[in-house]
Amino acid sequence: MPRPRVYVTRHLPGGALDLLAQHAGVTLWEGELPPPREELMARAVGSDGLLCLLTDRIDAELLDAARDLLVVSNMATGFDNVDMAAAGRNTVLVTRTPGVLSETTADFTFALLLAAARRVVEADRYVRAGRWRTWGPEVLLGRDLWGATIGIIGMGGIGSEVAKRARGFDMRILYNSRTRKPALERRHRMEFVSLPQLLRESDFVTLHAPLTPQTHHLIGRAQLQMMKPTAILVNTARGPLVDQEALHYALRDGLIAAAALDVTDPEPVPADDPLLSLPNCVIAPHIASASVATRSRMAMLAAERLLQALRGDVPKHAVNREIARRWRARVRRRQAAGA
Ligand code: DGY
Repeated sequence: MPRPRVYVTRHLPGGALDLLAQHAGVTLWEGELPPPREELMARAVGSDGLLCLLTDRIDAELLDAARDLLVVSNMATGFDNVDMAAAGRNTVLVTRTPGVLSETTADFTFALLLAAARRVVEADRYVRAGRWRTWGPEVLLGRDLWGATIGIIGMGGIGSEVAKRARGFDMRILYNSRTRKPALERRHRMEFVSLPQLLRESDFVTLHAPLTPQTHHLIGRAQLQMMKPTAILVNTARGPLVDQEALHYALRDGLIAAAALDVTDPEPVPADDPLLSLPNCVIAPHIASASVATRSRMAMLAAERLLQALRGDVPKHAVNREIARRWRARVRRRQAAGA
């Protein structure tokens, strides 16, 4: 194939853009916000490869229209922004960047756990408001992480790193996931339990499951009612895992003690969202993987996988490997046609 045409939907940290430019004709969307829909559509139509982010909607309309597109490389571990059925129908390979962000995301999960449990954000506001007048035995009392029970929902790379850190805090670890992981259970000394048991017994519940039709609103009113009134919910996965309206009432009415969210539904959280008025809710702008090193690694991995696919190889992290045979045949036809 002659020099492939690649569209990149945002400026990337590290050396990923340089690598792409060595092997492909790159068009870069330089805006700070995602490319507008018409721009994304028009560029996808003229591209062989797309390096996109979780903020780009790669839906059936786009995939049906982009007849030359061979690969979508999503710079994220989640890929709920891509219509996988339409990708399969159009024989477009989809890749992602798992693995490289697990530790960093787990670190940030603990930042949120501690922020909510020890009221770090409230404390900062308290100081800035000039309310710090003395050391007080009852000022800003929070809850201990050490020795508490943590319930981890989803036991992939990130869930496992969270468990590893929880062990360092001497926590009792419960988990629930689609499949049981006996080796990890032994390594982290944790117990597989049903979702209701996890919700009933955990002091901290943290979400690390992918967003799928099955996990949409996994935590709703009924699940919040099962949790302890002292419990803290953390979500660094995807906003729609939680029914946000139900969460608002649960926090307001004391059904649970606090929440810390790195992801919301929608994103960004609207300025008038009632969650923003609650002191017991910490919200971050989807930055759990946002360390310099990790974001550079994610960008590099996304670029490498994209180039690998454009050479005709199915990359390790291809999400839809089941289309590999059909996809290779499509690439070969393109190579034979010299286009
Ligand atoms: C992912 O990779 O899916 C994360 O949400 C990005 O931080």
